[in-house]
Amino acid sequence: MDELDRWKGKIALVTGASSGIGDAIARALIKFGMKTAVCARRKDRLDALAKDMAGEAGEVLVLQADMEKESDIKGLFPAIRKKWGQPLDVLVNNAGTGVRKALAAGDTKGWAEMLNINVLAVAIATREALQEMKGKGEGQIINIGSMYGYQDRIPMAGMYTATKNAVRAMTNTLRTELQGERTKIRIGEISPGLVATEMRPKMTNGEFTYESYFEQFHPLLPKDVANAVLYMLSTPPYAEVHDILIGPMYQAL
Ligand SMILES: NC(=O)c1ccc[n+]([C@@H]2O[C@H](COP(=O)([O-])OP(=O)(O)OC[C@H]3O[C@@H](n4cnc5c(N)ncnc54)[C@H](OP(=O)(O)O)[C@@H]3O)[C@@H](O)[C@H]2O)c1
Repeated sequence: MDELDRWKGKIALVTGASSGIGDAIARALIKFGMKTAVCARRKDRLDALAKDMAGEAGEVLVLQADMEKESDIKGLFPAIRKKWGQPLDVLVNNAGTGVRKALAAGDTKGWAEMLNINVLAVAIATREALQEMKGKGEGQIINIGSMYGYQDRIPMAGMYTATKNAVRAMTNTLRTELQGERTKIRIGEISPGLVATEMRPKMTNGEFTYESYFEQFHPLLPKDVANAVLYMLSTPPYAEVHDILIGPMYQAL
């Protein structure tokens, strides 16, 4: 893990860190020793995370932000510079949401929410982060996609699937653009299968429980995705991880 050490003391931003995967990623980065800004709407959750992490190797900056508001997203970057005197080195685009409905019955508000948070916010945060990283000459962007980003016919998840396909397209396109510029900025995606977080129960108004899946397979845990983030960061500067597809054993893609 020597290569990972080069990120110690560097600055990360994790979006959607108030629960699930983002919370686990933020904790892993802070424990490892990164200065980590965490954002979400539920500030009480972020404050609790910061309290838990007191005494760990890294530092925490709590920033309340609604990823549906461009001004909130743009405000994250100067706040980070103000706190640590430098722009960020690592951006983890994790915030996301899902509404489970057939396309024929989908409501426009739910679609807009998914498109705004899962796609537009990723594009805006990435664009803003790139301005900062280009000044520094290097950096790492990590997009949390989904195994659904490789699917295009999942009933009840048509728009969510569309957003995660869009994330995969943006990730790969940006890599090609950056390769053309020969920067030292890497972009990679992590595409998990089912992870036990608040998301699925929320998507089904509590009808879904992870326990109901256990006969078929054991869902991933948020820490499994956090470990994939650490792996991505641990690769040497001459290597670039494009995507890590990780699903529960026995879950079909
Ligand atoms: N769980 C899975 O099975 C699974 C599988 C593959 C990929 N993913 C992806 O993993 C990512 C994290 O999801 P999760 O499973 O950890 O779900 P989660 O526990 O529901 O967490 C979602 C996070 O996104 C934040 N968020 C949602 N809307 C936001 C908004 N408008 N502004 C700011 N933050 C917002 C939430 O914070 P607030 O509500 O406090 O704002 C929360 O921190 C998502 O991109 C999701 O698509 C999940």
